This record gives sequence, structure tokens and C-alpha cells, in this order.
Amino acid sequence: MITYTDRKDFDHAELAPLFEQSSWARGRTVAETTHMVAQTDLLLTAWDDHRLIGCGRALTDYVYRASIWDVIVSAPYQGRDVGSEIVRRILYHPALRRVELFWLCTRDKQAFYESLGFSAKEQTGMVWDRTRHADAS
Ligand SMILES: CC(C)(COP(=O)(O)OP(=O)(O)OC[C@H]1O[C@@H](n2cnc3c(N)ncnc32)[C@H](O)[C@@H]1OP(=O)(O)O)[C@@H](O)C(=O)NCCC(=O)NCCS
Repeated sequence: MITYTDRKDFDHAELAPLFEQSSWARGRTVAETTHMVAQTDLLLTAWDDHRLIGCGRALTDYVYRASIWDVIVSAPYQGRDVGSEIVRRILYHPALRRVELFWLCTRDKQAFYESLGFSAKEQTGMVWDRTRHADAS
């Protein structure tokens, strides 16, 4: 049975195989990941027994805005509603119930997020990438 939790007290090295599956989080170290988890307002994980099979997280001010990051489901478990359930549990989490607007960034998963009620029409994003500004520091 697949279960979901917002607890952070697991071995954060277990997130590495999920990160390796993504284009953006590949190569994250355990030390960075542990720091990231500690500073993340809400981390949602999905488990098949003791196996970590999915994650997603939110950064928020708890009132006006929240952003959702790193929604990843282990390949053998994709297409079984795990990703949707992770996002739903973030959107409807009691701690975030006052948040007015959730924002996220996706290159090619628009259809997935549209099925959860997200719209691409109202907001556009811009990005400042530190790795592209190495000379400026
Ligand atoms: C995107 C991702 C998180 C979806 O998780 P999932 O558990 O496979 O998705 P679900 O089973 O909950 O699918 C929910 C719906 O979205 C659709 N969907 C899932 N993946 C999709 C994709 N890649 N493109 C388009 N639609 C998709 C499903 O068909 C389903 O629609 P339905 O209910 O009408 O059948 C997962 O495929 C993944 O980890 N991908 C790699 C990492 C990634 O790109 N994450 C998104 C970062 S922005």
C-alpha cells in the first residue's frame, strides 16, 4: 500500500535516486539535500512500504504565496496517481490552507498540472540562474 507523509525524519540520501531521474536535480549531494529539506516549509513523500517512491515540496509565506518544486515519482510507479496525490496533499495541506496562490515552473508537464487545476494563462515566470552569472560575482 502506498502511503504519504510530511515527516522529514528519514534518511535524506533516499531522495537521491528520485533526483537522478530528473533533469534539474541530478547530482545533488546528500549534504545539500539535507540542508534543502531542513529549509523546506513542506516536504511531501510517498512510500511503498519502506521504499521512497515519490516526492514534492513547497516553499511558502503561509498566507499569500507558495511555490511547488521537485515533484518526482519513481519511474515504475508513474501513471498510478502518485504524482497527483503528492500535489493534492500539498495544495490541501492544513498548514497551507490560507495560501492564496500556488506557483510552479515546468518545461513539459503542463498537461499533468492542468489535470490538477493549474493554469498557464495567468502567470508567466522569469528565472535568474546563478550558474549563468558566474562572472558577475
Ligand atoms: C510528472 C510526474 C510527477 C507525474 O506523476 P505520476 O504519478 O506519473 O502522475 P499521475 O499518475 O498522478 O498522473 C496524473 C495525470 O497526469 C497525466 N500525466 C502524468 N504524467 C504526464 C506527462 N508526463 N505528461 C502529460 N500528462 C501526464 C496522467 O495521464 C494522468 O492523467 P489522467 O488522470 O487523466 O490519466 C512523473 O511523471 C514524474 O516524476 N516525471 C519526471 C519528473 C518530472 O518531470 N516532474 C515534474 C516537474 S515540473
